[in-house]
Amino acid sequence: MNADDQKKAAAVRALDYVKPGMKLGLGTGSTAEHFVRALGEKVKQGLDVLCVPTSERTGKLAESLGIPLTNLDDTPHLDITVDGADELDRELRLIKGGGGALLREKIVATASERMIVIADASKLVETLGAFPLPVEVIPFGAAATARRIAEVASDFGCTGRMSRRADEYGEPFFTDSENFIYDCAFGTIPDPDGLSAALNRIAGVVDNGLFIGIASLAIVGTATGTDILGSI
Ligand code: 5RP
Repeated sequence: MNADDQKKAAAVRALDYVKPGMKLGLGTGSTAEHFVRALGEKVKQGLDVLCVPTSERTGKLAESLGIPLTNLDDTPHLDITVDGADELDRELRLIKGGGGALLREKIVATASERMIVIADASKLVETLGAFPLPVEVIPFGAAATARRIAEVASDFGCTGRMSRRADEYGEPFFTDSENFIYDCAFGTIPDPDGLSAALNRIAGVVDNGLFIGIASLAIVGTATGTDILGSI
């Protein structure tokens, strides 16, 4: 199977964990989109679920498929969030935020009893960090915050190019919460737990794309099927 088939296989397998009456978080990105589409089919066939999307983009897709939607104000506790990842390791630590939705993704995932990660095999790595770590930053004083990020990261053995994300027109990219993202190409992250905690202590950092201790199960598409890591 190619990468997209693997994403789809992982997404379809995640449906096995969805039971009638569940409240679900819906992730963002191409793998999560496969899940939303597959869930939409089940809803058409009568499955009763209520869902919170992690981005405007996912919300529009889910709405177009007739999936009942709510938000965390009306429904603050969810059963399962199903989302993709840019990288995951065997401890189910993740890098997320390639699609720019890391903040809402983390809020929704941590409002959920369980998070299931769905991914193609290329996302499973020995050491996190080849994918540039997204860090969401308040626009006020962003250059000063970026400087602090570089200093703090270097204390954790992480150095490399940091660039403020731009959109397809070269204009600053804004998240759904109107913040900037700095993509930090560290290459490897020797201590993801320590780095994540330290980054989130910097004034001006809203959150970073390391998801530590949040996912309990990963479904990884392979050349021949799907592998399960962790348990639920
Ligand atoms: C969006 C994300 C996505 O889950 C991540 O970028 C993976 O995307 P894809 O499934 O398209 O490979 O974190 O913010």
